[in-house]
Parts: sequence; structure tokens; C-alpha cells
Amino acid sequence: MTDFYKGKKVLVTGGLGFLGSNLACRLAGLGAKVTLLDCLLPGHGGNLFNMADFKKSARFVKGDIRNKPLMERLVKGQDVLFNIGAQTSHTDSMKNPYLDVDINTRGQINLLEACKKANPGIRVVYCSSRAVYGSVSKRVIDEETVPRPLDVYATNKLAGEHYHRVYAKVFGLNATILRVANGYGPRAQMKEPSFGILNWFIRLALDDAQIKIFGDGKQVRDYVYVDDITDAFLKTGRNMKIPGETLNIASGRGLPLITIVKEVVRLAGTGRIVHVPWPDTNKKIDVGDFVAEVSKAGRLIGWRATTPLRDGLEETIAFYRQNKKRYW
Ligand SMILES: NC(=O)c1ccc[n+]([C@@H]2O[C@H](COP(=O)([O-])OP(=O)(O)OC[C@H]3O[C@@H](n4cnc5c(N)ncnc54)[C@H](O)[C@@H]3O)[C@@H](O)[C@H]2O)c1
Repeated sequence: MTDFYKGKKVLVTGGLGFLGSNLACRLAGLGAKVTLLDCLLPGHGGNLFNMADFKKSARFVKGDIRNKPLMERLVKGQDVLFNIGAQTSHTDSMKNPYLDVDINTRGQINLLEACKKANPGIRVVYCSSRAVYGSVSKRVIDEETVPRPLDVYATNKLAGEHYHRVYAKVFGLNATILRVANGYGPRAQMKEPSFGILNWFIRLALDDAQIKIFGDGKQVRDYVYVDDITDAFLKTGRNMKIPGETLNIASGRGLPLITIVKEVVRLAGTGRIVHVPWPDTNKKIDVGDFVAEVSKAGRLIGWRATTPLRDGLEETIAFYRQNKKRYW
């Protein structure tokens, strides 16, 4: 990894957020010249403390992907763009669809146009979501599964994917799409639940609070630790031969939510699980059981998730115990 990234100029949008800052931290460690762009969108995961460990070896620009002149300036001269910044809340996208459209579709076009004009040779990795699949009857979901998004956020993430495919095919942009499953780990927003439910349950456990599970908790989920997601980004970014491809990034192993939450409570030593009926809105946009097929990522970028759930949870719990006041 160092051979490829040392000295490379790398731009990470959403760089102060959960996935962006974990990736930026690794890139800085590999000797890349990292620029983080983030608009610190209110209520989202952008947090200046996320770059505390590497602030001397990265540059932060406060700005918005919707600002075209800024994006043209920033992409110029970069070797790799990790396109991660987004409106990320499913529920907010249903309450205020216009903000989601503005950032997750218009913002994406803006970024792609900036690349086309100012840096057509740049390598682009677009961070999409497994949410684009929506609710599908197949148990194990591969990249050929027809996406049927269930909310505005997922619909716009799918549009973002299509824009990247179109720019790859029509304009020759070297862009690859990653469909990332549910992530968990350090440096995530922990103030409210609509961004990543496993991290939220970890907070509740650390607060020795009630953890409400909708229904029996048997819904199967595929959780992937943030270090594994970071590895997938890095391996994709250095592979120049997969333009227009779409890869699932997930653990590939599904577990009932209740099993995962019991493990959280056991490792934290605090927190209480209670079962509650499904609220109507959540039921309507729930994706049902989900396990991703990940062999394509294995084939094309030599990646698979390697962190056991227990190790990932232990590291996450230890991180938030130590840094609670920065995230609560
Ligand atoms: N966390 C997950 O489990 C998960 C799963 C699948 C996909 N994703 C995708 O990963 C990406 C990052 O999600 P995250 O979990 O790190 O969320 P996050 O909220 O922690 O990070 C997103 C960051 O993007 C920034 N941002 C938002 N709009 C912006 C704009 N217009 N211009 C510049 N910056 C902007 C926010 O301020 C924030 O720091 C998103 O694209 C999301 O769709 C995340």
C-alpha cells in the first residue's frame, strides 16, 4: 500500500466524517499528501477531533461539494479522489428530500464536472451504500441484484452511482463504485441514532441505558468494521483497471441483530436489551434481512473483511470509553 500511496496527492470529501477520517488517518500514515474537504454539515459526523491524530500530516479545507469553483480548484493536481461526503441520514432524507437531492445528486454532478474539466485523469472512488438494494427477496445479494431503493437517500445514492458509471463510460473518467454495508467503529457521530444503529447501540450500552430492539431482533444484518472498509477504499484506489465497476464491501457474513447487540452488552458490561414493536415508518423503510456477496471484491481488488466482530466491537468500545466527551 505504501508503494502506491507514498507522496500521492489524495482528496477525501467528507474527510472529517466517520469513514472519511478513518481513511484519511490511514492515508496520512502511508505518506500520502492528504486534503480533507468537509462542510461540517449540521447533525452529521463531521468532527474536527476526528483528525486529531494526524492533523500535522493532512490539510483540511472547510467547503462544500456543491461549490463548483472550489471543487475545480481542489481536484486539480490530485491523483486520487475518495468521494465520501454525503447527506447520510435515511430518516432526514424522508423529512427533507430537497437537501438530500441537492447534496447527493447535484453535488455529485458538480464533483464529476469539476473532475472532467480540471483533472480528467484523476482516479475516483465513489462511496455508495448497500441501501440502494432496498428490500430484496434473495438472501445473499450480489452486485447483479436489481436495486430497489426504499427511501430518498438510497435513491439518490443510486443516482450518484449511475452518474459515476456514465462519466466512466462516456468521458473515460476512471471511477469505481463501492456499495458499503453497515459500518461501525471509532470516529462516528454518536449523538443520535439515525446514522448507524450499531454505533448507537454501543453508546446506549456504555451509558447503561435501555437498548430498544424492534420486534424479535432476528433481522439479519451484515456489519463491517471501519478498518476493513478503509482497506477496501485503499485497495480500490490503487487499482487503475476497474473503471465503471461496482463492488459490494461487506463482511459477507450475516448475523441476527439480537446476537450482535447481546455481544455489545456482554463486552461493555452495561446496557439492557428490551424488545418493542416496530414503529410504522421504520417498518416501511426497513430493508429486511441482508447479507452481501463479496467475492467480486476478492477477485478485483484482493479484498475481504478480516476483523472478527468481537475484535471490532472491543476496539470501538475502548475508543469511545476513552473519547466519550468528544462524541456524546
Ligand atoms: N457509515 C456507514 O455505515 C455507511 C454505509 C454505507 C455507505 N455509507 C456512505 O459513506 C459515506 C460517509 O458516511 P459516514 O458514515 O462517514 O457519514 P458522516 O456523516 O460521518 O460523514 C459524512 C461527512 O460528509 C460531510 N458532508 C456532507 N455533505 C457535504 C457536502 N455537501 N460537502 C462537503 N462535505 C459534506 C459531512 O459534514 C460529514 O462529515 C456516505 O457517502 C454514506 O452514504 C456509510
